Amino acid sequence: AAVRRPLVAGNWKMNGLKASIGEIEAIARACDDSISARVDLLICPPATLVALAADSVGTSQLAIGGQDCHVKASGAHTGDVSAEMLADAGATMVIVGHSERRADHNESDAIVRAKAEAAWRSGLTAIVCVGESEAQRKAGEHLDVVGGQVTASIPDGATPTNLVVAYEPIWAIGTGLVPTPEDVAEVHSLVRAVLVERFGEAGQAMRILYGGSVKPDNAAALLGAANVDGALVGGASLKATDFLAIARACP
Ligand code: G3P
Repeated sequence: AAVRRPLVAGNWKMNGLKASIGEIEAIARACDDSISARVDLLICPPATLVALAADSVGTSQLAIGGQDCHVKASGAHTGDVSAEMLADAGATMVIVGHSERRADHNESDAIVRAKAEAAWRSGLTAIVCVGESEAQRKAGEHLDVVGGQVTASIPDGATPTNLVVAYEPIWAIGTGLVPTPEDVAEVHSLVRAVLVERFGEAGQAMRILYGGSVKPDNAAALLGAANVDGALVGGASLKATDFLAIARACP
């Protein structure tokens, strides 16, 4: 079986000012001292802080990422940030297709796929997010929905180094509601099957993260579920102590 190194990633969303850099520095120190031997760590601050965060962590094993990128490298797109700009600022990864962007900015699977391709052109690893709504879960459509998103949002050419998948059930994001580890394992094993079917053996080595109300007290159970290779953490990533406790809960 493929050995997958866990990745615990923090998505700061639209939170964080220059004064918050101390939290990132604390995460970087702990990462290098005790965590990086076993687990990869990533923080995705808002775009305004990517360069400062990357400069602050310097040569630390803590990676810095973006939360979104445009499909193009440059041009007349006021307010947008490109993958090339994120890479230039020191990012090595970027989240694409988060449900908040799919909802707030009408991002389709095709757009998410184009963003992942843009990330790759700039040498960034793409963290492609998928996940069903509460209504879809209640209707029992979650496996179809997630399988369809994985197929349509991930470009050809994915490898275990340029792609990470994050399963984030929308109803679990920021709500304190979490699926059972069995429910998480059900979806993750479906995602694994779709990846292996399309990418062969490489699909076994691709990391699949769980996201949605991951906290220090539920992290061990969620991270211990089958085919869960780490977490994508929102609220609990804003405090170094909580984020590090989740990272240390990796089996
Ligand atoms: O991308 C992470 C996220 O959507 C989960 O947020 O606050 O429920 O951990 P949260």
